[in-house]
Amino acid sequence: MTETMRAVLLTDHGDLDKLVYREDVPVPVPGPGEVLIRVGACGLNNTDVNTRTAWYSKGVSDATTGGGFDGAEDDDASWGGAAITFPRIQGADVAGRVEAVSDGADPGLIGKRVLIDTWLRDWDDPMNLDKTGYFGSECDGGYAEFTKADHRNVHVVESDLSDAELATFATSSITAENMLNRANVGAGDVVLIPGASGGVGSALIQLANRRGARTVAMCGADKADQVRAIGPEAVLPRAPEDLKGALRNAIGRDTVTVVADVVGGALWPSLIDAIARGGRYTCAGAIAGPIVEFDLRTFYLRDLTFTGTTIAPPGVFADLAGYIERGEIRPLLAETFPLERLVEAQEAFIAKRHVGNIVVVP
Ligand SMILES: NC(=O)c1ccc[n+]([C@@H]2O[C@H](COP(=O)([O-])OP(=O)(O)OC[C@H]3O[C@@H](n4cnc5c(N)ncnc54)[C@H](OP(=O)(O)O)[C@@H]3O)[C@@H](O)[C@H]2O)c1
Repeated sequence: MTETMRAVLLTDHGDLDKLVYREDVPVPVPGPGEVLIRVGACGLNNTDVNTRTAWYSKGVSDATTGGGFDGAEDDDASWGGAAITFPRIQGADVAGRVEAVSDGADPGLIGKRVLIDTWLRDWDDPMNLDKTGYFGSECDGGYAEFTKADHRNVHVVESDLSDAELATFATSSITAENMLNRANVGAGDVVLIPGASGGVGSALIQLANRRGARTVAMCGADKADQVRAIGPEAVLPRAPEDLKGALRNAIGRDTVTVVADVVGGALWPSLIDAIARGGRYTCAGAIAGPIVEFDLRTFYLRDLTFTGTTIAPPGVFADLAGYIERGEIRPLLAETFPLERLVEAQEAFIAKRHVGNIVVVP
């Protein structure tokens, strides 16, 4: 077993030059209960971008752009509102094979193909949100040849999909499934999905359809055909001038029962206006801008329920692994880059010309 490996280190907050490719990074040593994983592929995600640029800092009020921000502070720059330490290997969405196990982990895992539940828990207190971290943020992740994880975060997946395809699922799909759980989405719901061409949005279409809900996607005009192929009932433009009118034309009603949002920004008031009385708004992102205009009257006079969604409880990832194994959701792999070209991969990811997700392979 080699002692060093190839990996990309995040060396500080800032622009893409803070991501440094190295070939002399120590291979992680699994501690008690942990397993060593040979990374087959690792998917990109916005948490990596937002952490690098310190977008999560309350000093930032702009949309995610992919570049560093002037107002950002280091001490609240991670998704959890705390500082992170450098160097850090980012990358949450790992598909790989178990190479070795430590004491306390099942040796039967060796050689198995696995995905990693991205939420790091205190396994003595697994429901405690304050004791929960994110893979590739509060510990090193998957932009490397090897990574390690607690055996309880590791899910065996029996599937014909490639590692690159499997690496498209974790963050997007667990977030989408958790949003639908938090909003109690079921058959009979009509779910409006802004950002439907992205990782979370495309997963929302599939996972809401899987529950028997009706889905209405919103996306850029150039992506509409690809989004239609995922299977929503209707596809609307990214930012219709008259959202209710567009809904009426597309599905015969001008409101929905649920908005599942990762976009926010200028569009936000019209999204809230399109929720039927007694409906739900669930949010896991604000890629178009975190500061929105909120008319409280719409919220309380219409008996709306709002749920913020980030940390998925234990059990959701196991559900997801089952959906993947049974082919109930399919991967949307837009492009694959070699690990050493992670910067190029992240440039493509930030450009948002793709549908689904982009993956690096070591
Ligand atoms: N809370 C959590 O745990 C969690 C987990 C995952 C993601 N997130 C957050 O959710 C958001 C979306 O994540 P994702 O992985 O689905 O993103 P993604 O794959 O990058 O897709 C986002 C999509 O949003 C659309 N969009 C609309 N307005 C935009 C704007 N002003 N700038 C950029 N894109 C815009 C784009 O599609 P069109 O061009 O088709 O409009 C884009 O493809 C991000 O903010 C991310 O940080 C949160």
